[in-house]
Amino acid sequence: MSMIERVWKKAKADVKRIVFPEGDDQRTVLAAVKLREEGLAKPILLGEEAAIRAAAEKAGAELGDIPLIDPAKSEKTEAYAQALYELRKAKGLDLEGARKLAGDVMYYGILMVQLGDADGLVSGAVHTTGDMLRPALQIIRTKPGIRIVSSSFLMTCPNPELGDEGLLVYADCIVNPCPTAEELAQIAVTTARTAHDLCGVEVPRVAMLSFSTKGSAKHELVSKVQEAVRIAHELAPDLLLDGELQPDAALVPEVGARKAPGSPVAGRANVLIYPDLQSGNIAYKLTQRIGGADAYAVLQGLNKPCNDLSRGCSVMDIVNTAALTAVQAQASGK
Ligand code: ACO
Repeated sequence: MSMIERVWKKAKADVKRIVFPEGDDQRTVLAAVKLREEGLAKPILLGEEAAIRAAAEKAGAELGDIPLIDPAKSEKTEAYAQALYELRKAKGLDLEGARKLAGDVMYYGILMVQLGDADGLVSGAVHTTGDMLRPALQIIRTKPGIRIVSSSFLMTCPNPELGDEGLLVYADCIVNPCPTAEELAQIAVTTARTAHDLCGVEVPRVAMLSFSTKGSAKHELVSKVQEAVRIAHELAPDLLLDGELQPDAALVPEVGARKAPGSPVAGRANVLIYPDLQSGNIAYKLTQRIGGADAYAVLQGLNKPCNDLSRGCSVMDIVNTAALTAVQAQASGK
């Protein structure tokens, strides 16, 4: 069974409510219908009702009993505004400002998740990453014990010899432009957990990537990764994690044996931690476009699940991201 088939099976076993702030997007409407038909999630669409219905008609989708909520008219908007005001008044938000924000589809959706009226959120078919991330960070915040939110890209590669039968988990490719050594270490530990808990990777083997392997180059950028390795070992002594490693040493057994002999990770890594957002984001897009991998993104470290799409996403990308969100919601309810 593939990673995504396992995710679908789990999502169906305990169906969660997933809210979509972009209810007037045709792909989102089609995805919501598919999610309901497949029993993967209970979708909720946000937006102006007429605009959602028009999108459904254009897409040829039957909305049936899918709840449609217009934040500009909802009876809950005032309560959400009050809750937002309480959460953010120390940061200078006044009640009028909170009312305005609560009437926005993105803030409304994130407040639904925060206040328990939905179990998770998926957006990004229309909005940018920052449009969703900023309110999610401000309102939902991090899980206890986790200092930063980051992302994992689940890359399913055509070559089964790579990673975990073709699955590689990349981080961070979405959130943190320039992580410190401490933040890189935290990202590594959190990503290993995502690989295990969400993707079913039995033994995560984490490679901390660089342009150097085990001191082959000297540079302050390399020193940062070496420091991150040291901190990650302190944070999670039992985790199989090594670095700094170049990607060939991390992935190819013969190269790993030559460049990093004795490493528990080299040549067999299934989790790749990139030193910054430029390298991570570039790597995932190249793996997808040149390497022919399928890519699924999840945010990790948020106290409740909210996930981002690429604006070029397909209907099935939205369906799969919602299924992953639902499985994250099952775990956050425990
Ligand atoms: N983890 C936890 N909290 C965070 C994080 C983080 N990684 N980053 C910011 N925060 C908190 C801040 O402490 C702040 O909290 P506060 O307001 O309660 O004090 C709040 O979130 C907002 O932070 P700001 O600094 O105001 O927000 P910022 O303008 O830095 O935006 C953001 C944060 C959106 C994550 C920014 O770093 C960003 O734009 N990252 C890159 C996103 C991106 O464009 N990715 C690439 C494309 S995605 C793709 O290709 C699929």
